[in-house]
Amino acid sequence: MVFEESVAAHYGRIDAGAQLLGMLRREGKDPEHFVPADLHGADQLHIGGPGATARLAERAGIGSGIRVLDIGSGMGGVARHLAHEYGVEVHGVDLTPEFVELSRSLTQRSGLAGSVTFSQGSALTLPLEDSSFDTAVIIHVGMNIRDKDQVFAEASRVLRPGGVIALYDIMVLGGEPEDYPLPWANTAEMSFVQPPLAYSDALAQAGFEVDLESKTVQEGIDFIDRAINAGPGRGGPVGVDAAALGNLRTAFQAGILGPVEIYAHLPG
Ligand SMILES: C[S@@+](CC[C@H](N)C(=O)[O-])C[C@H]1O[C@@H](n2cnc3c(N)ncnc32)[C@H](O)[C@@H]1O
Repeated sequence: MVFEESVAAHYGRIDAGAQLLGMLRREGKDPEHFVPADLHGADQLHIGGPGATARLAERAGIGSGIRVLDIGSGMGGVARHLAHEYGVEVHGVDLTPEFVELSRSLTQRSGLAGSVTFSQGSALTLPLEDSSFDTAVIIHVGMNIRDKDQVFAEASRVLRPGGVIALYDIMVLGGEPEDYPLPWANTAEMSFVQPPLAYSDALAQAGFEVDLESKTVQEGIDFIDRAINAGPGRGGPVGVDAAALGNLRTAFQAGILGPVEIYAHLPG
């Protein structure tokens, strides 16, 4: 699909591998053998970094022995974090071939290839068996997807009965963003931000029951301030330009956009 190609091109242009490995070398770490925390969240492309991932994992009840699907897994930072900290098996699916290749390489180097795997594919047609996961996480992906009904229909298909979804996106809280670029889109045509209600309706349509919704706007502003001031690896992810982060901060501050988590489950 042409649109998905432009999303993959947007993320594929980031030369993240060289930046991440360079960061490890500068800190005196061995780029061939490192633990996920050595990257300080520079491989997690979302507001809040590892702190937000940990909160999501705890709220979703992620714990040893379960099988987790990471939809839109980016550079694999979330998948490695979950496997390393919670002892879970994780499979990540992402549209961007460069990210899938980088995810595999970083996962191999961090010794987690036995429990963390990746495939290239779309959230709209997941290349996965029915009822094959206990929990799905989807973090900062929906902003690039128009058809949210289809994303959650696919998540529902691959989760077992009783399975949980933890969703964390930038959502519309009051109006349309005007200033681009934003981290996920250089123009309005590439952006499909929606209010929380659109997500909870799409989840319900796919058979999920919503358990919790939580907005973290001030935390998001503080995270962006740290990311802009300190740079990748000292507070922010690699590959996101300061102008895009600045526009996102303005939209948070104006109450137009904000980071929102939604947790839901399938009937058991
Ligand atoms: C902002 S990044 C977030 C990555 C990761 N979830 C994280 O938090 O580090 C968005 C990711 O979603 C992926 N993506 C966007 N649309 C997608 C789709 N339709 N199917 C699968 N992945 C998609 C992009 O390739 C990109 O890696």
